[in-house]
Amino acid sequence: LTHLITTEGIPRDILTHILDTAQTFVPLAERDVKKVPLLRGKSVFNLFFENSTRTRTTFEIAATRLSADVFNLNINVSSASKGETLLDTIANLSAMQADIFVVRHEASGAPYLIAKHVAPDVHVINAGDGRHAHPTQALLDMYTIRHFKQDFSNLTVAIVGDVLHSRVARSNIHALTTLGVAEVRAIGPLTLLPSGLEQMGVKTYTDMAQGLRDVDVIIMLRLQNERMRGALLPSSHEYFKHYGLTPQKLAIAKPDAIVMHPGPMNRGVEIDSAVADGSQSVILNQVTFGIAVRMAVMSIVAGASS
Ligand code: CP
Repeated sequence: LTHLITTEGIPRDILTHILDTAQTFVPLAERDVKKVPLLRGKSVFNLFFENSTRTRTTFEIAATRLSADVFNLNINVSSASKGETLLDTIANLSAMQADIFVVRHEASGAPYLIAKHVAPDVHVINAGDGRHAHPTQALLDMYTIRHFKQDFSNLTVAIVGDVLHSRVARSNIHALTTLGVAEVRAIGPLTLLPSGLEQMGVKTYTDMAQGLRDVDVIIMLRLQNERMRGALLPSSHEYFKHYGLTPQKLAIAKPDAIVMHPGPMNRGVEIDSAVADGSQSVILNQVTFGIAVRMAVMSIVAGASS
């Protein structure tokens, strides 16, 4: 694995290897081992052309724990605002001896474009591009599911909400399918379910009560209003009534179902606070596991973990 651009097409053994490698990093943090020297002398550049709280911060923590030097480019005060192209920005940062670029961009395909232009010993990790892919989020989601449910093969996983605009949903569907879950469901209003889900092996539901029946894992999604320019948006109140996850709707799933959300959450829109903060929520566990998963991805692409 030289770059991580998408989960689509990554074989099961490589996905499992990333999760297993991440698992070796979790006990280190618990034993208060703050750093390992795997990326000592390497430079990691965080390039976030879109806002982020979780992904950017956990990549920075992960790179620091691997002993890399981390540089966060502040895009708002960079020369990108003066019209410098993305590839010129990358060429200049490469001249500063970057080893790994972590890239979030509103344009689908931007990390792929960068990966095609960097030197062979430079690695690109997609931290979310447009509505295309968010592979490290999918990997930390897989880690979380495996942690709480052990085996993928008997699981029914429901992805609920704005699947159409969600890079997380797309990356999760590819990873879940490759890892062999029994069933993947997408639940949402017809206007927010993309065509082609059935061809990807996903069952679709517009009725939440039907879709949640006997589900082991529920992944809630935010309405991606920033990607719905010109579209007729449902009112928050109306959306919550039909697709918001309340304790009553959660009770339709299996009693030990876990509730996940990539964040940021909009409480009272797609999820009730009683569920977000409830005993079945593993939303903050996802965030913590994200550090170990991103350590694993960076150390594997850089060739520091075999
Ligand atoms: N899940 C996720 O990508 O969150 P951020 O936008 O805060 O990074």
